[in-house]
Amino acid sequence: MSGRLLLAIETSCDETGVALVEDGRRIHANVVASQAALHAASGGVVPELAARAHLRWILPALDDAMAGAGADWADIDGIAVTRGPGLIGALLVGINVARTLAWVHDKPLIGVNHLEGHVYAAWLLDPDEPEHEAPPFPLVALVVSGGHTFLLEMRGERDYRLMGETIDDAAGEAFDKVGRLLGLGYPGGPAVSRAAERAIDRKLVFPRAWLGDTYDFSFSGLKTAARRRIAAARADEGIAEDEQALLSDGMIAELAWGFQDAVVDVLATKAIRAAAATGARAIILGGGVAANGALRARLAADTEARGLRLIVPRPGLCTDNGAMIGAAGHLRFTAAGSADEDLVARPSLPLARA
Ligand code: KG4
Ligand code: ZN
Repeated sequence: MSGRLLLAIETSCDETGVALVEDGRRIHANVVASQAALHAASGGVVPELAARAHLRWILPALDDAMAGAGADWADIDGIAVTRGPGLIGALLVGINVARTLAWVHDKPLIGVNHLEGHVYAAWLLDPDEPEHEAPPFPLVALVVSGGHTFLLEMRGERDYRLMGETIDDAAGEAFDKVGRLLGLGYPGGPAVSRAAERAIDRKLVFPRAWLGDTYDFSFSGLKTAARRRIAAARADEGIAEDEQALLSDGMIAELAWGFQDAVVDVLATKAIRAAAATGARAIILGGGVAANGALRARLAADTEARGLRLIVPRPGLCTDNGAMIGAAGHLRFTAAGSADEDLVARPSLPLARA
């Protein structure tokens, strides 16, 4: 290891992530303890349970990451930790562990914006992945997660201009809601995506909220349309309103496909239009919904047709993880003097104030 090695900690929501990343790109370890099973019963993240689970798993995850990378404390140049946005109790676990480790081992501490992490995941390289060119500027970044949906123009490192964002729900939130309405459990995104793959007819058209020629998004109308159609399909199949029974597999697949197609169409169309308007050379895609196969395929085809580069991290780096915090943290880590002495949790930290 010849570069700068950061220990990176992510605990903003329901994944406990601890990673070791060299020079903001090369992953040496990336341990993620998922709480999906813990929150499945309630169909959504329970903040208090999330905070306790972070507390339970963060030190084992740290031990795993250090052992996996074969690193010891002398190898570590600094500690990066998510400071927001996210759930306050969850953020505080990561921040307090990072702060304690920084004090005990005398390392600089760097607070990282979670959203900047989703953007910089596009710079990461897996341990055995051949070195390849970093994303070229200018570029457009589309971040689609459970809590956020926005489009950025980037003309250089950490140079962000917000082009548009959701005016109501995040795309991932809509996936989770529709997954729940279809009885597919939590989190809904991956389940809806799997169900959509089984669709045969692929003819159901759900409404798209274009919001004129803005780069903003809206998914609440689509959610309502999905709720109505699911209710109508249940009535068609003779399922009483208060009955637990699921729709037929075929109908679930067609509804999931129609919903997903509407989300993908709006996201891809706006990202491509944003790239054209800014003269971007590349589009980078990040956030949990970027794990969606249909969105990846659509953007791959659309960017290829226009001679643009598409950079999408593998699915495990799109959903919350520590490595992306190491990638974004590296940019802030120029000198030991840049360390955040007074690091505090910021539950609604905006990207522009990263
Ligand atoms: O980025 P992330 O892990 O956490 C947040 O910062 O929100 O994103 C989680 C979101 C969830 O809403 C989840 O349902 C969605 O990403 N998601 C997907 C897929 N995998 C995860 N949505 C659609 N298709 C997927 N394959
Ligand atoms: Zn996230």
